[in-house]
Amino acid sequence: TYVVTEACIRCKYMDCVEVCPVDCFYEGENMLVINPSECIDCGVCEPECPAEAILPDTETGLEKMLEINATYSAEWPNITRKRESPADADEHKGEDGKFEKYFS
Ligand code: SF4
Ligand code: F3S
Repeated sequence: TYVVTEACIRCKYMDCVEVCPVDCFYEGENMLVINPSECIDCGVCEPECPAEAILPDTETGLEKMLEINATYSAEWPNITRKRESPADADEHKGEDGKFEKYFS
């Protein structure tokens, strides 16, 4: 499966949802997550994200975010259409420690 990492937080560009063939993105207040049981590992979303927030779970150190993706994709609504990103999205691109600072 692919995983949305904390780099998505407060960027939420949503380019990813437009390309996913199985519509497995789910929307929270300030980030999206992927449902790991629906993702077919096609990889097309990874290069679409301007924040480079999407990674395959074969990368190391993704345990916490994989758990977040699994948990919240079961609670948050499905999203399949891109909307306008937060006005200050670019200011949060590449920022460190976003999970601790902003995740809710
Ligand atoms: Fe969707 Fe493919 Fe990305 Fe999985 S890897 S979330 S199936 S676009
Ligand atoms: Fe987030 Fe990137 Fe999608 S910032 S909403 S994972 S395009």
